[in-house]
Amino acid sequence: MDTQTVPAWVAETAAAIETKLGLVAHRSRGILPYTTENGRFDDMRGKNPCWWTNGFWGGILWQMYAYSGKPLYRELAIENELALDGNLMDPYGMDHDSGFKWMPTAVAHFRLEGGGDSLRRGLLAAENLAGRFNPAGNYIRAWNDGNDGSTAGWAIIDCMMNLPLLYWAYAQTSDPRFCHIATAHADTVRERFIRDDGTAIHIGVFDPRSGEFLHSLPGQGYGEGSAWTRGQAWALYGFTLSWLHTRKREYLDTARRVADAFLARMRPGRGIPVDFCQPETCAREDSSAAAIAACGLLELSRALPAVQADGRVYREAALRLLDYLRENCLNLDGDVDFLLANGADSYHSDRAQMTLIYGDYFFVEAVWKLIGRDIGIWMG
Ligand code: GLY
Repeated sequence: MDTQTVPAWVAETAAAIETKLGLVAHRSRGILPYTTENGRFDDMRGKNPCWWTNGFWGGILWQMYAYSGKPLYRELAIENELALDGNLMDPYGMDHDSGFKWMPTAVAHFRLEGGGDSLRRGLLAAENLAGRFNPAGNYIRAWNDGNDGSTAGWAIIDCMMNLPLLYWAYAQTSDPRFCHIATAHADTVRERFIRDDGTAIHIGVFDPRSGEFLHSLPGQGYGEGSAWTRGQAWALYGFTLSWLHTRKREYLDTARRVADAFLARMRPGRGIPVDFCQPETCAREDSSAAAIAACGLLELSRALPAVQADGRVYREAALRLLDYLRENCLNLDGDVDFLLANGADSYHSDRAQMTLIYGDYFFVEAVWKLIGRDIGIWMG
């Protein structure tokens, strides 16, 4: 249990989430949900079996299993893990998001129960991720293209959250290549992606032959020079995790700079916008950014000595984010499959607001951290 005071709503919310997800799990066998249509999960197996979010349902299920011990959650989590196996034979489906896919599934399974197949899945995914490293430029390539090399020089802030797969592989194999690649990428991101004001760019474009950094792209954010909030949250949590895995002080300092910039842009009583630079007239928010940032802030507050004032500031900010989500976005009705409304896949999306399985996952993770039941998926 978190040794500091936890508001009463936290444990009540945890119990209500498990009750609801028990119902949802019964009608959601074997699927890979990404969003919902009319309140019911879609299924990415037919649409895009290699989609980057296809491990988050498994992560929710493992968190529920560890909390409740109900065998159905475990059974479905293993189904999710197995459904990803086709990815491992598809070089076009394997991109930098292997951490998102296999940490909440195979690696979580291996951590909780051991098992050679889960270990092998995690290691294959980690080897593939390491193979995306470009020593010219010291970055991990993000996405694939049709073999024309057009995105060979692209790296993105989100990848900070995939590095834990490499740290985990190092811990399993004692092969320092995994750690060298993870820290080389994190060092590049620290230097090239984090602006002087503590905000992060989304896409960094390198010359993949010379390694020269060319320019940034706004990606899923509002526009050039803006601050896409989910990217800020990936940076905040990602650098905190790199600190926890390596104890390199500069990662903790970077996480704090990003966190301070995030906190300075939070709006009292309002949600986290899709982009901190979006026009005031735009009311769209991104509940997933708030949930991811809350997880990062809780870990950051724990990384600092308990008495340190900044640690308390980060924890209180996390609680404000979660309380806002609970009051304004959380749906505990057992008739709908999602937890959080008001997600946004990107600023220039066709869908103004949508539900997102990873928003749900990180909300659960944050609540589970507060009640002391988080299974530590990103720690491997
Ligand atoms: N990793 C892609 C996203 O955050 O939308």
